[in-house]
Amino acid sequence: MAPLGGRLSHPYCHGVIIVSNYLLACQGRGRHLPIRTVIEPFKIKSVEPIRWTTREEREPILARAHYNLFSIPAEQILIDLLTDSGTAAMSTRQWASMMEGDESYAGSRSFTRFERAVREIFGYQHVIPTHQGRASERLLFTCLCKKGDVVPNNTHFDTTRANIEYQGAEAVDLVIPEGKEPANRHPFKGNMDVEALARLIERVGRERIPLVMLTVTNNSGGGQPVSMENARAVAAICHRHAIPLYFDACRFAENAYFIKLREPAYAGRTPKEIAQEMFALGDGCTMSAKKDGLANIGGFLCTNDDALAQQEGNLLILTEGYPTYGGLAGRDLEAIAVGLHEALEEDYLHYRISSTAYLGNHISAEGVPIVQPPGGHAIYIDARGFLPHIPPARFPGVALACELYLEGGIRAVEIGTLMFGAHAAMDLVRLAIPRRVYTQSHMDYVVEVVLEVWKRRERIQGLELSYEAPFLRHFTAHLTPV
Ligand code: F0G
Repeated sequence: MAPLGGRLSHPYCHGVIIVSNYLLACQGRGRHLPIRTVIEPFKIKSVEPIRWTTREEREPILARAHYNLFSIPAEQILIDLLTDSGTAAMSTRQWASMMEGDESYAGSRSFTRFERAVREIFGYQHVIPTHQGRASERLLFTCLCKKGDVVPNNTHFDTTRANIEYQGAEAVDLVIPEGKEPANRHPFKGNMDVEALARLIERVGRERIPLVMLTVTNNSGGGQPVSMENARAVAAICHRHAIPLYFDACRFAENAYFIKLREPAYAGRTPKEIAQEMFALGDGCTMSAKKDGLANIGGFLCTNDDALAQQEGNLLILTEGYPTYGGLAGRDLEAIAVGLHEALEEDYLHYRISSTAYLGNHISAEGVPIVQPPGGHAIYIDARGFLPHIPPARFPGVALACELYLEGGIRAVEIGTLMFGAHAAMDLVRLAIPRRVYTQSHMDYVVEVVLEVWKRRERIQGLELSYEAPFLRHFTAHLTPV
């Protein structure tokens, strides 16, 4: 393996360097300890082989998939960075808890444990289990939104937007301007533009805004965090106008750790305390436990509103299941109850945030344009900067993702013109890192592949669409190279 040397400084954490073989060591965590390699804070108990293919094999595989990486069978992928959702490795404690799963239809012990774990961190009155985040979104927006309504968010994730639009309402993204500039190193690029929020409320009227959402971290904007100060400012505006504030909490633990690292008042607080303080600013949340729940399936919806909870519970029974399981097995509820707390452990978060930065810093040191600073769960390559000769209409993000597959069997995902249409502000390729799954040498390999593609970037061509579905087209689109 080629050595990955270089000492880079990290702007938000004094005394942080990238050592020649791994990660960051941060003053304040190790206090006066020497700066050492950050190691994975676990050992491996069970392994799953991954399969090599040759470039000659990958070319026809990609063509058969119509140049859409979603259509490639997972066993033909070497390193799968398609998503950090539902792809975590569970801990021995999670697996052990699953044996305690109580599969009673109503009132299971597992639900009680799940509800207790969620309440302890999130603090909301009502906890409604769902099979994943988008089910929570559908329940919430079906109950709260109607045609003509407007829902502001820092940036809506694609399923969030689709669920709002499905109700005939409008989803408005109000991230701060810095959040749309890939090279800008603002420490909280997920923040909402509070003045734009105030103007929007004035323009459309409070009656048309059934809720405001804040997505932590801001996935579609590069996995960037929202500061406590910003959440507080958004909450103040919401309270002034009596508009409920909901968090899209998928990556709440990563967001809490960024606050600890970057917002001085929180340096001495635990990630759990930070998360509790943030959620106390809101009226409820949607959650996909497939991210910071460290589970392979599951989610929940929380609210403090009794009447709304009743309405959501009724809808839940219609399509998801009885309110004490919501489409999940008792053992899934157990895995989430343990996972939510493990995701808040500092050793884990230190390794998690450091290993994502490791990938980002090593490719950007060679000139690859990425969304800076590195996000929590993923590195986002700026495909318009990487392939300036391919116009957005020829899908530079898809072209780059296809090249990463051809070069090294890596699967990434485009977040740009294919996903959002002609209105996409950026064309990004997301390298999402599953939690606790890959080691440093896997990441070194990814760095090598990205840099190989970078060297021959001028020869890469764009693509055109040959089939698209009426909504969420990126999942099933067919493309052809031009
Ligand atoms: N909100 C955000 C911010 C998300 O990132 C996701 C999912 C959801 C809601 C929906 O949750 O998948 O459990 O229904 N994001 C995944 C991703 C799919 O790859 O970023 P879900």
